Amino acid sequence: MCRIFNVKIPELSNPSVCMRDPHRVQEILQSMVKAGSNTVQVISDFDMTLTRFAYNGKRCPTCHNILDNSKLISNDCKEELKKLLNTYYPIEIDSSRSIEDKLPLMVEWWTKAHEILVQQEIRKDLLAIVVRESDAMLREGYQLLFDHLYEHSIPLLIFSAGIGDILEEVIRQAGVFHPNVKVFSNYMDFDETGVLRAFKGELIHIYNKREGALLNTGHFQELRTRPNVLLLGDSLGDLTMIGFLNDKVEERKQSYLDSYDIVLVKDETLEVPNALLLYLT
Ligand code: TMP
Ligand code: MG
Repeated sequence: MCRIFNVKIPELSNPSVCMRDPHRVQEILQSMVKAGSNTVQVISDFDMTLTRFAYNGKRCPTCHNILDNSKLISNDCKEELKKLLNTYYPIEIDSSRSIEDKLPLMVEWWTKAHEILVQQEIRKDLLAIVVRESDAMLREGYQLLFDHLYEHSIPLLIFSAGIGDILEEVIRQAGVFHPNVKVFSNYMDFDETGVLRAFKGELIHIYNKREGALLNTGHFQELRTRPNVLLLGDSLGDLTMIGFLNDKVEERKQSYLDSYDIVLVKDETLEVPNALLLYLT
């Protein structure tokens, strides 16, 4: 396990922290401090990055899982969604397959799952209840992260292949949906009676979170004025900076180390990102 001793950021010596090149990380952080916090922004994935992977040994739900496990979905459809999860999630985390190989399969997963959800005539006014009754959990330290960014006027872009309506409700109910938070995700399209009819716009899945998608948004201007990005993710589709390695740890460790500057192994907290932000502001 590689560790560095850093007087300014002792959290970088936590046992969960792995880095391929600790000196480069130090250099990046030092240059970010020099540039000032008004050049920094945070871009983060949502499922399994801002939310926990597991709690007390039990897996926590993704945005999709919150709906899948809810009373809004019939038992037959629950079975179908579970089958999809059991088929495609192992592919998502399979380190022996290339992204090119996995991409069409991920599109297939999202497309099939969304088709099933649309068949369920889900009502918009019940989403808040379903989220409240779910086991969704933000990672420990979320309050500090969201509040600190807001207090320092640092934009937080949540870029998620989950479901925007659900994700927003999770952070709203946690009391941290501050005005500096922007969300790009798959949003539900409801008819005038408030029933789900489709998903809006272009599908976001785990492998198309590229600058191309950001180019289409007003947020790109913000990106340009804040070139120092602290990027948090848990999939190689999220890429660079701090990666949470939650599952299949040994098999995927090398590829995570090659891709992310800092890899957090089985770390359910936001302690390290928070420590870096305190250092940067
Ligand atoms: P993220 O980009 O916010 O992490 O969201 C993507 C996650 O959603 C990914 O890990 C797979 C998961 N997912 C489900 O759990 N169920 C589904 O039906 C689909 C399509 C994705
Ligand atoms: Mg994720």
